[in-house]
Amino acid sequence: MNTNSKEEAVLHQAKISRRNMLKTAGVGGVGVLLGATGLGGLLTITEGKANSTGKKEIIPFYGNHQGGITTETQNHVYFVSLDVTTSKKEEVVKLFKDWTIAAALLSEGKPVGDLSSNEFLPPKDTGEAEGLSASNLTITFGVGPSLFVRDNQDRFGLKQKQPKELVDLPKFPLDALEEAWTGGDLCIQACADDLQVAFHAVRNLIRIARGKAILRWAQTGFQRTKQADPGQETPRNLFGFKDGTVNPDVKSEKQLNEHVWVQPGDGPNWLVNGSYLVVRRIQMFIEVWDRTTLKEQEKTFGRYRDNGAPLGQKDEFESLNLKQKNDQGEFNIPVDSHTRLSHGDGSQRILRRAYSYSDGMDAKTGSFDAGLLFLCFQRQPSKQFIPIQERLATMDKLNEYISHRGSAIFACLPGVKQGGYLGETLFN
Ligand code: HEM
Repeated sequence: MNTNSKEEAVLHQAKISRRNMLKTAGVGGVGVLLGATGLGGLLTITEGKANSTGKKEIIPFYGNHQGGITTETQNHVYFVSLDVTTSKKEEVVKLFKDWTIAAALLSEGKPVGDLSSNEFLPPKDTGEAEGLSASNLTITFGVGPSLFVRDNQDRFGLKQKQPKELVDLPKFPLDALEEAWTGGDLCIQACADDLQVAFHAVRNLIRIARGKAILRWAQTGFQRTKQADPGQETPRNLFGFKDGTVNPDVKSEKQLNEHVWVQPGDGPNWLVNGSYLVVRRIQMFIEVWDRTTLKEQEKTFGRYRDNGAPLGQKDEFESLNLKQKNDQGEFNIPVDSHTRLSHGDGSQRILRRAYSYSDGMDAKTGSFDAGLLFLCFQRQPSKQFIPIQERLATMDKLNEYISHRGSAIFACLPGVKQGGYLGETLFN
């Protein structure tokens, strides 16, 4: 028997065993699956499948920090914002406990519960990820300001725990925000190298939330895939420019502690090891951009389109030379360019993890509704995203080609330790 057919035989056997096991276990669901781990290794049987290259592609769910923040960016994102509908704190806590179990299973490419044991009941897992690899799925959970206080109501007795940094973002000049893509009590960011896997995760988590929370808005996003770019160059945005060149080094604990992870003393201790997420749904007027000369495009960003180097310089990753001038005495990197303005004096750094989106046609204008789902993580929005965006909103040449249509802020919870649950530090 060659390796492939051996693997197939094992998988086939595993499927049969799993069905039998689930039949024995009864209707079950998440609780049963977990409870059943003592019954002769159900978890090994339901182990996530490998991909076509034999890799399991599993990013560990448990740890000091949640996945999906410093994780190498996956091909796709499925982002959702939710509103909590229950008024009972214990139900919110139960939801986070159920989500913890489900997210741990999903991250390993396993179903959240029974796929087929009782034909008289809806299956516990919706089934569309059956047979797919975990695809490096990460699921990142966050809580918004309105979970703490809404309409002046301390909804769940958490008011005292609301961090000063977790407040609605100020209105920036040129904001064109729409209710349909704004705010939320909770968020889930599911990233995976397969969109069906990411969708499956979100769908099942929302299903588990029935009666406790509902969808408020949702947005998918994509990047060039790893298959299309095995060299893993910096991805290009829909304006054709390399996007993501300058970012804190995710391998440097020092930089992450300085710019990304909430530290002891920053605010309430429950958020230590978490991070603030600012999300902006930014429409990009690609038709207008496509009628703009290359020179103008490059001056807008302050970088060359071809290799991503700062104007007047050679290499994509060279540090910016903001003093260099051309023969006409103008700065090579223009004063109103996106690069110069977002860089500022270099002290406000955010971890950008953006994805492009394309949502068909903008019915109001007949143009593409396409752009950037801008996701960025940081330790203190008041000292990072907000001052950067204040500069951009007032002066950025890029504003001629974009419009901020959605916005939200969330505190992404610290990571979960084995045996613990998401939000444990907040709810206890
Ligand atoms: C559709 C909207 C946007 C597009 C197309 C865009 C694109 C880019 C591009 C091409 C670069 C240069 C390459 C790089 O370093 O990645 C860049 C840099 C950057 N952008 Fe944006 N961006 C957008 C919105 C924003 C927003 C809303 C913020 C934050 C408020 C932001 C913050 C930054 C920062 C911090 C840098 C790095 C600056 C540095 O060199 O230190 N961008 N962006």
